[in-house]
Amino acid sequence: MTPKPSPRSASPSARPRESRLSVLHLAPESLGFALDGAAQAIGAVRLGAALPAALQAVFVSAPEGNAAAARGAVQDIAYRTMRRLATAEWLIAKLVKKAPPPHVGHVLACSFALLIDDEATAAYSPFTVVDQAVSAIAARREFSFAKGLVNAVLRNFLRERETLLQAAQADEVARWNYPAWWIDAVKKAWPDAWQAVLAAGNKQGPLTLRVNARHSTVDAYLQVLQSHHIAASRAGEYAVKLDTPMSVDRIPGFSDGVVSVQDAGAQLAAPLLGARDGMRVLDACAAPGGKTGHLLELAKLQLVALESDASRARRIGENLQRLRLEAEVRIGDAGAPSKWHDDIDQPFDRILADVPCSASGIVRRHPDIRWLRRASDIPALVAEQRRILEALWPLVKPGGELLYVTCSIFPEEGELQAQWFGNKYQDAVRLDAPGQLLPSVARAPADTSAGSDAGPSAEASTGANSDHDGFFYARFQKR
Ligand SMILES: C[S@@+](CC[C@H](N)C(=O)[O-])C[C@H]1O[C@@H](n2cnc3c(N)ncnc32)[C@H](O)[C@@H]1O
Repeated sequence: MTPKPSPRSASPSARPRESRLSVLHLAPESLGFALDGAAQAIGAVRLGAALPAALQAVFVSAPEGNAAAARGAVQDIAYRTMRRLATAEWLIAKLVKKAPPPHVGHVLACSFALLIDDEATAAYSPFTVVDQAVSAIAARREFSFAKGLVNAVLRNFLRERETLLQAAQADEVARWNYPAWWIDAVKKAWPDAWQAVLAAGNKQGPLTLRVNARHSTVDAYLQVLQSHHIAASRAGEYAVKLDTPMSVDRIPGFSDGVVSVQDAGAQLAAPLLGARDGMRVLDACAAPGGKTGHLLELAKLQLVALESDASRARRIGENLQRLRLEAEVRIGDAGAPSKWHDDIDQPFDRILADVPCSASGIVRRHPDIRWLRRASDIPALVAEQRRILEALWPLVKPGGELLYVTCSIFPEEGELQAQWFGNKYQDAVRLDAPGQLLPSVARAPADTSAGSDAGPSAEASTGANSDHDGFFYARFQKR
């Protein structure tokens, strides 16, 4: 939770240089400054940018707001708004007669996100939100005409809060905060669990760590955390979940490679691949190297980490350096092995194909994804995944194995893909694997309702009361 910001301040020393879109008189530690920054990021996402890049652009353009507290507040509001965007836009449509200019709409959306989120209202009082939203609008000369509108709209909302939020429930998009096509696709795929799946994606994911098997065990590391007064629990064979997220520089052993940040569902990949000492392994879509690191923690391998995006590939090296592990990083297209794999007589014992996908299983950590994807992306991704699988299968040794992984909840990228593969390759034997792991949120101790967990095979594979993102796993052995 971001600390409560101090009240609006307009000290002249905090006044940045003027530019068309400069914030004219908002102190970087004020909520108004954070609302303005978050609104800019939301605007960029609405134009197609990914939220992390949009936030980075905001921080670069407002150097005075680059202090950790200001960054934290901007980021917190932007992420909350992504999870509440459709409710906020529904409220704007309801309460504003004529659509406001985009920036004004985005400040309103960010303000609504704070006013409807119970957790946020504990941190920001409603009247502070209204006051600071008005300040944020007044601070930009080109939008200051709208400060009366913003004030009136937010105050009207507060007067009729419960009635309006109740009415928003009748609109599925406003209720669930996903595009209509996404809601329909989840309903079709998971008719008995669709509400739990959508609800899980609207939660904030926990901070889960992977304990490096070369250095420690979950039990031993839990004791280390306890000695640092950090509350945590076991979340899988190698997984530890912190009760409260914190920055990695405060996590014991992180800089020495004792632990890495990785969702509990993603931590299933390396054990499932079952690579043993001395094996030749290809991690075919490797950046940023989360699973590469885990594979190398579990066995001494000759590992090739392939990645098509050179800038992302650099992160594999950085991650491995922290873990003090080594792989041969190659830049190339997994779908065109002749370009990067000239050692044709050296097939692989194991291939991890963690292919590009819709990322629909990891929306709780990347809430912008739902607003960036289009329904038409899915068939294009399915075709790309097939192209990559077709290219990789000939590289598997007879008796070797390929693990197909996506962080998707759509069967087109999961089970249907695995069936297509099994039918196409007569020499592929499908082995045991979790299949679809739907995102699952840990139940509060007193909660025994079925609604908070949605995953077939989820609890069996990651431990009871598990808390993980959505993944699909299929394993094939070559005859
Ligand atoms: C799901 S992410 C991989 C995550 C990674 N395995 C991990 O655990 O950290 C997919 C990666 O595949 C890369 N990629 C996409 N198309 C590719 C291709 N044709 N060949 C190789 N890599 C590709 C993307 O740039 C992205 O980094």
